[in-house]
Amino acid sequence: AGYLFAALVLGYLLGSIPFGLILTRLAGLGDVRNIGSGNIGATNVLRTGSKKLAAATLLLDMFKGTAAVLIAGAISPQAAIVAGLGAFLGHIFPVWLQFKGGKGVATYLGVLLGLVWQVALIFAAIWLIIAYTTRYSSLSALIAAVATPVILYVMGYHAIALLFLVLTVIVFIKHRANIERLLAGTEGKIGSKG
Ligand code: G3P
Repeated sequence: AGYLFAALVLGYLLGSIPFGLILTRLAGLGDVRNIGSGNIGATNVLRTGSKKLAAATLLLDMFKGTAAVLIAGAISPQAAIVAGLGAFLGHIFPVWLQFKGGKGVATYLGVLLGLVWQVALIFAAIWLIIAYTTRYSSLSALIAAVATPVILYVMGYHAIALLFLVLTVIVFIKHRANIERLLAGTEGKIGSKG
């Protein structure tokens, strides 16, 4: 079990790197937590007006999850799953930011990409379709995150489906304020100052 704990810690450390915060600071845009939703994720980085930084945040927050899975996957499939859990928890509860991290969507997708890339493509397709039609980043993520454990289960990935069921519940909890705004009709649309 020692190597599983090591995988969890490795995943956590990778996941806890707050790329959105780092990139916007390096670019001299100040603290991204003071604008828009206050989140450190790509959707809120886009509210600084920089598409490039938002894209970079999305990719880096994703690939830290993928990297954790692939590195730990060299040990065992169980280690890969545990490292993915660690990366997701690291992004949401980073020790460096008093455990106040992001909402987990990009890292969720990156972990999924490392574990079952086909389902990551389905997640991305669902996200894009809902985002294109509604312009709500949060709603797109919530719908894709409901579909993911179901699709994994149906495809026979039972252990990974259980992991993503847990991750989806956490994604929903982190999106409480977004859900309230969606229901009130006040959620910011993609690219708006929201
Ligand atoms: O991935 C986060 C997204 O779903 C919502 O971001 O900044 O609008 O709360 P934000």
